[in-house]
Amino acid sequence: MTERPADAPYSAAADRYETLPYRRSGASGLDLPAFSFGLWQKFGADYPFTTQREIILHAFDLGISHFDNADRYGPPHRAAQQTFGAVLAKDLTRYRDELILSTKAGNPIGASPYLRGGSRKSILTSLEHSLRDLRTDYVDIFYHHSPDLDVPLEESVGALVSAVQQGKALYVGISNYLPDRAHAAAELLRAAGVPLLVHQTRYSIYDRRPEQNGLLDTARRDGFGLIVYSPLAQGLLTAKYLETIPRGARAENSTFLSPDMIDDTYRQRTAALNKLAESRGQSLAQLALQWVLRRPEVTSALIGASSTAQLDHNIAALRFSPLTDEELSLVDEHGVHGTGSRS
Ligand SMILES: NC(=O)c1ccc[n+]([C@@H]2O[C@H](COP(=O)([O-])OP(=O)(O)OC[C@H]3O[C@@H](n4cnc5c(N)ncnc54)[C@H](OP(=O)(O)O)[C@@H]3O)[C@@H](O)[C@H]2O)c1
Repeated sequence: MTERPADAPYSAAADRYETLPYRRSGASGLDLPAFSFGLWQKFGADYPFTTQREIILHAFDLGISHFDNADRYGPPHRAAQQTFGAVLAKDLTRYRDELILSTKAGNPIGASPYLRGGSRKSILTSLEHSLRDLRTDYVDIFYHHSPDLDVPLEESVGALVSAVQQGKALYVGISNYLPDRAHAAAELLRAAGVPLLVHQTRYSIYDRRPEQNGLLDTARRDGFGLIVYSPLAQGLLTAKYLETIPRGARAENSTFLSPDMIDDTYRQRTAALNKLAESRGQSLAQLALQWVLRRPEVTSALIGASSTAQLDHNIAALRFSPLTDEELSLVDEHGVHGTGSRS
């Protein structure tokens, strides 16, 4: 990957809106790029800033105007937001109006009871940290990161509403909520005049929960969009782990993807899916991304990348013809829920 010198001024690609389709998020008025970019892994203090900057700027050049963060992302916690904040200040300030920046509050980032969970204190404290880290005075989407069953839903949702009323967020979202709680949150938000824009959930050929638990139906009924994270199952839905674990890949260096998930069952199923992708003239990564985006409830596929080449490759997914019914059946046959996962 060629990296631009740190002092080279950045000017965004003139054709950046010609690459990706934009899709409407639920019943809102907001369009989001079909691919959004997340800074969960390799955007903390563990990776060179020049590489991180190159990937972020390349994503924007490709039309990916939505960048997803959380106070928890690092390591250490908050570091990924600080990375993005540094790139925003250095290169993207004049494009701020074209960016959709999101962040999330509520997952633990420290021992204090106010650095975790769904209380009003935690959520609004986290937002203050995030605005400072991101070097912006508002975020476009502010999420509650995970449900907190020990806190009244009214309190967590009320904190999201306050963020909008204070002008610190334009829209609100929830993440990892099961359908019943998502529906209840949507009702509360609607009543407060701050409709739920989006739900961020894991969804991939190897994680079928949104199909099985009814979240896709709830999204349609309640009028919120879905932003689906880990659509490549963190890289498992690529061909790279079929033979071995490549050096530097996530399965080698992340606590979230352990090498023991890459077993014979995983390899057999992935090889079959890879064969299907090859028969269509595309890669498994491209097939997996096309597959999540086939659903109208899905507004955007939230991807990660450790290089600009991965980004170029992945966003080409939408150039292929839609999957046929026969191909979708083959995906169902080999894409068994839970493959390569402990949960
Ligand atoms: N709301 C939540 O609770 C939650 C939870 C998790 C994630 N998220 C969000 O979702 C975002 C994306 O998650 P994710 O990173 O797991 O998504 P993903 O797209 O499933 O996985 C991305 C990783 O796969 C590998 N990869 C990507 N393209 C590849 C290709 N063409 N060939 C080979 N390897 C490739 C890269 O890892 P390596 O090259 O390093 O192996 C890359 O970092 C996160 O950044 C975060 O914003 C949200």
